[in-house]
Amino acid sequence: MEKIKLPNSSLIKSLYDKYYIKEQHKEFVSSHWKLHSEQFNVKLEEKEGYIYIHSLQGLGFGDLITRDPFKKLLNYICNFSYFAKLPQRTNVVKLLIPSLKICKSMGAYFSFDCLKQVYALELIMRHTSMKRKNKRLVFLIIGDGYGFLSSLIKAVIPNSTVVLVDIGKVLLFQSIYCQKAHPKALHFGIEEGYKKELVDFLYCPTEDLEKLTFTFDIAVNIASMQEMNASTVERYFQFMRKNCNKDNLFYCCNRESKTMPGGEVSEFRKYPWDTRDKHLVDEYCPWYKYSLAYRQTKYGPKLLGIRIPFINYFAGPIMHRLTILHTERET
Ligand SMILES: C[S@@+](CC[C@H](N)C(=O)[O-])C[C@H]1O[C@@H](n2cnc3c(N)ncnc32)[C@H](O)[C@@H]1O
Repeated sequence: MEKIKLPNSSLIKSLYDKYYIKEQHKEFVSSHWKLHSEQFNVKLEEKEGYIYIHSLQGLGFGDLITRDPFKKLLNYICNFSYFAKLPQRTNVVKLLIPSLKICKSMGAYFSFDCLKQVYALELIMRHTSMKRKNKRLVFLIIGDGYGFLSSLIKAVIPNSTVVLVDIGKVLLFQSIYCQKAHPKALHFGIEEGYKKELVDFLYCPTEDLEKLTFTFDIAVNIASMQEMNASTVERYFQFMRKNCNKDNLFYCCNRESKTMPGGEVSEFRKYPWDTRDKHLVDEYCPWYKYSLAYRQTKYGPKLLGIRIPFINYFAGPIMHRLTILHTERET
């Protein structure tokens, strides 16, 4: 059992009570996430401001927490193979130091899931103008798993507000791990009283999306729309077009096509893009092509018809776009 003191333990307790004890709100949860979240093993309690964690095991939203040294080694080799062949090494190295610090404070290791988010942030920052950088940036992070990307953003851009939206069960993980990574920052739940300009992290369950009153500069979605129903994806696009600045950036990185256990198909090119959207980057994602693991999947390279061990391709290609979304706003 772990006993921890975090800045906003009542937020953790309220998310736990609502989504694990009472199991409220199942809207916007696809068949994929219904199936996965039933297998989470989470048990915690709050007493006198401390959180007592008896069990905190998720499934399917990142691979940051493991004690298996061989698994870690394979991830490090995988990370190095991408680093060796991709450009922007200096920028990526600059992001590595804060990344490693965050992993340490989260009790995580620097897995491939972290690396792909480092590359994503590097790309976003390279396309963020000085004009944008000189003001407080408001980020919308849709589906952040353990909260690694949100924590990294706050570490490298301290003058920022990070709003995390996710299904309640996974938002609980983000509220714990981001608080571990940033114990001195101000963390709020959407239902709590806060002054917008003072918020560092705001946690918003997906069903409360429309309650958000921020205007966003940058929105990010990595490997999460691919597991949402089409109507949920549409809802996020509508929300962003209403609530992002005119000179926004939207980074979207997802499988070209993915079929969920309930038969719903998510297709990247069929997301509600608009002909007035301006894509600054639009390609197959160069840092999301393969991963290394000892569990061999169906997909991977072959030599003389024999599957090469440890190297797995994903079950379909992954696309990414960095886009200035057409918005309904004047500014
Ligand atoms: C495969 S994980 C990806 C996590 C992280 N972005 C990464 O790339 O490692 C998918 C994420 O999408 C989230 N998600 C699922 N349904 C969602 C919804 N309706 N709204 C927001 N996030 C959702 C999951 O809970 C999870 O955090």
